[in-house]
Amino acid sequence: MKLWEKIAAAYRGKRVLVTGHTGFKGSWLCRILHAAGAEVFGYALAAEQQSMFRLCSNERILTHFEGDVRCFSRLKEVYDSVRPQFVFHLAAQPLVLEGYRFPRETYETNLMGTVNLLECVRLSAGAESVLIVTTDKVYAESARIRKEGDRLDGADPYSNSKSCAELAAACYRRSYAGFPALSTVRAGNAIGGGDCAADRIQPDCVRAALAQKPVVLRHPRSVRPYQYVLDVLSAYLLLAAEQAEHPHLASAYNVAPPRGTSTASLAKMFSRAWGGLRIAGEEEDFSPAESRRLCINGEKLAKLFPDLPHTPLRDAVAETVSWEKARAAGKEMGAFTDGQIASYFSEERRA
Ligand SMILES: NC(=O)c1ccc[n+]([C@@H]2O[C@H](COP(=O)([O-])OP(=O)(O)OC[C@H]3O[C@@H](n4cnc5c(N)ncnc54)[C@H](O)[C@@H]3O)[C@@H](O)[C@H]2O)c1
Repeated sequence: MKLWEKIAAAYRGKRVLVTGHTGFKGSWLCRILHAAGAEVFGYALAAEQQSMFRLCSNERILTHFEGDVRCFSRLKEVYDSVRPQFVFHLAAQPLVLEGYRFPRETYETNLMGTVNLLECVRLSAGAESVLIVTTDKVYAESARIRKEGDRLDGADPYSNSKSCAELAAACYRRSYAGFPALSTVRAGNAIGGGDCAADRIQPDCVRAALAQKPVVLRHPRSVRPYQYVLDVLSAYLLLAAEQAEHPHLASAYNVAPPRGTSTASLAKMFSRAWGGLRIAGEEEDFSPAESRRLCINGEKLAKLFPDLPHTPLRDAVAETVSWEKARAAGKEMGAFTDGQIASYFSEERRA
């Protein structure tokens, strides 16, 4: 079966809860799920003014619940009213520098928010599949390419809070017989239109390009597993569907492109695709430490899904630039986003 057919077959008519649906990845995920015919519910903080959620009017395609994952009673009330069959947990404080500034809030949201969600699943019947989204940064520092069995001990408060979320999820999986299929997914930096986060290279490039200013790279020589957002979400969707059918697959998975890319190379691709973005003197390491080379091994997931798409990064950047230019031109971004999704999953590309 082709990729889109698999996704549509798995999610059509299903009740799906997405936490963090007002964010970048959540907004794309909800539009895919909606296109697949799922009944989509979201739980997150209010959307930012310039967010993809608002630009795409995503409140029209899902049932929107505003709430904090740190508030167990509110989350439980929503969870019980939704009675989801599939759960995608994306809500998080997702930024390294914010983690250094606000470590307590970061642990509360990323660790206890995850525990609160797991408790909702444990205390209610009906879920078939739960996916907890963490990050490639959950591993302890090492020069090696990280595999799933490697030690978890993220270096900074954000990364470490996600390592803790991994441990909590693994503990629920082994402690409670009858807990629905539960996996964690560790992806690197996702590239795609609509990311408006601070301190991330792609939104930094977009902001600089729109302001006609040079972009300053924080860690030009750092190497990261940059990959297209739709590749990452395809992996999430396939895994969540597959483990619902085969619960023994529930585990931890890296979601990785075949090779990493340096931040400087990514910025150069962006500059060429945009046309004329200048890259200013490459600053190095004026912010708190981030590891220089972060590479994860994606073979475990690739063995399960040999046909997982790996969009060339140049194409991912081109799609991103066209999305951001459409936004700047005032296009209707819900329809534009659906067009990129349809083209990505189109039969010619995924035959
Ligand atoms: N974007 C990436 O490149 C990337 C890379 C690795 C991991 N991740 C992970 O993917 C997930 C989604 O990331 P994103 O880039 O879409 O982030 P984002 O900042 O765009 O979205 C975060 C979402 O979480 C919600 N949220 C934050 N704090 C919350 C709270 N206390 N209660 C309820 N909701 C809350 C926000 O409202 C928003 O909907 C996160 O778990 C992040 O750690 C993202």
